[in-house]
Amino acid sequence: MKTAVYPGSFDPITKGHLDIIERGAKLFDKVIVSILVNTSKVSVFSVEERIKMIQESVSHLDNVEVEYFEGLLVHYMEANNYQIIIRGLRAFADFESEFQMASMNKKLYSDIEIVFLMTNINYSYISSTLIREIIKFGGNVQEMVPPSVYERIIEMYRG
Ligand code: PNS
Repeated sequence: MKTAVYPGSFDPITKGHLDIIERGAKLFDKVIVSILVNTSKVSVFSVEERIKMIQESVSHLDNVEVEYFEGLLVHYMEANNYQIIIRGLRAFADFESEFQMASMNKKLYSDIEIVFLMTNINYSYISSTLIREIIKFGGNVQEMVPPSVYERIIEMYRG
């Protein structure tokens, strides 16, 4: 059984992420969306909120699960006997950092393979960083995030 891990911060999950998950779920028997719990980084959404938003967004896919990890991705992969990493690649912007991260991860744990899926052209302008900024200043991100994320943002605005 081919299991692939789709790691990320997912603060919050976007339609671009969801597109990668849906396509990954067609390519692999199982996709595990793994949230990095970064204790030193301030996040907009708590880990619990991020898990819930992802679970709600992937509820139509029966071969997708949500997990979280702390520390190095390769340690988490090795500890769980996972060998495939999926990453989305937006044109231009991502290549350099993804190439570096993939090479480093491969160096640290040679048994892994990193598979890149080109981001859907319709979502290539979306990033969680921009979404967070737009949320902060009260802009509308409805078209860019799954409904469960949008609902939570509306709740945040209501206070
Ligand atoms: O959604 P992101 O923020 O682009 O995801 C980046 C992520 C979480 C995949 C990456 O930062 C990561 O794997 N962090 C865990 C720590 C680690 O393994 N660092 C070394 C990377 S070479």
